[in-house]
Amino acid sequence: MDQYAVFGNPIKHSKSPFIHTLFAHQTAQQLIYTAIEAPIDDFKGSLNHFFAGAGKGCNITVPFKEQAFQYAQQLTDRATLAGAVNTLKLTDDGLIIGDNTDGAGLILDLKNNHIDLKDARILLLGAGGATRGVCGPLLAESPKELIIANRTFSKAETLVGIFSGLGNISAIEFSNLEGEFDLIINATSASLSGEVPPISAALVRPETAIYDMMYSAQPTAFNKWAKQLGARLVIDGLGMLVGQAAESFAMWRGLKPRTKQVLTELRHNLSNKILKIGEKHAVSSCK
Ligand code: ATR
Repeated sequence: MDQYAVFGNPIKHSKSPFIHTLFAHQTAQQLIYTAIEAPIDDFKGSLNHFFAGAGKGCNITVPFKEQAFQYAQQLTDRATLAGAVNTLKLTDDGLIIGDNTDGAGLILDLKNNHIDLKDARILLLGAGGATRGVCGPLLAESPKELIIANRTFSKAETLVGIFSGLGNISAIEFSNLEGEFDLIINATSASLSGEVPPISAALVRPETAIYDMMYSAQPTAFNKWAKQLGARLVIDGLGMLVGQAAESFAMWRGLKPRTKQVLTELRHNLSNKILKIGEKHAVSSCK
């Protein structure tokens, strides 16, 4: 039977086997999906072994996304832009293709939550790997403006340099942020330590959609803060996790699973831990 897996280290709290097994069931696909803890110093050997056997595709999580980018023999455009790979696929011709579905997973979840991205003013907080992974897909939705704010301003400027050809993107310091945004996305890892990025409360209006890429059984610090300020639509990153998985599944099997029921089941099973897609400190849980 075709085998799929998520590779990470550590990996034992991964939600991916649960999600993909539900997808396979839903779409009547015969496959096995497991979690593999690759040795920190031999990720490549682990992948070679997997693909030499029945392995047909895999997800990659922290800390191996950049190594997976190097391992792939061919990259999709969105993986090239993201600078990291979260999905590998072995083609019938024996070629290993590297993709990045994190951004598409976010867009899918935003759309599932009826958030209009076209002509929207979007504020993206953070300038690490999580931010880089979603800039391209967000700009592809033709927002009016995508503004990146980060504690270390130079990192925000670097991202603007990478993505400026794709749309209206700019960088700003936290302290200079003002105006009205339709959507504020928190892609920092601040919620992991129960912190909120230092932005003005005036940015959060009742009609501002709030999205934290982290998730937990309880609202994240950022979402709690925004809710208290009166934001009506406050969403965490669990739907993005399911969304990126659905995009990977579609790449491997050629059909896109429905995400709603899987998300409901996952939410139900969620433990108390704060987790985030691609986040170093919650490595095992982000996939
Ligand atoms: P990831 O892959 O999750 O993006 P990362 O590359 O380590 O992880 O980036 C973490 C991001 O969260 C960075 O933008 C970081 O800001 P700096 O670039 O200034 O380090 C941001 N971050 C982490 N903790 C934060 C906090 N308490 N307040 C604001 N930003 C924070």
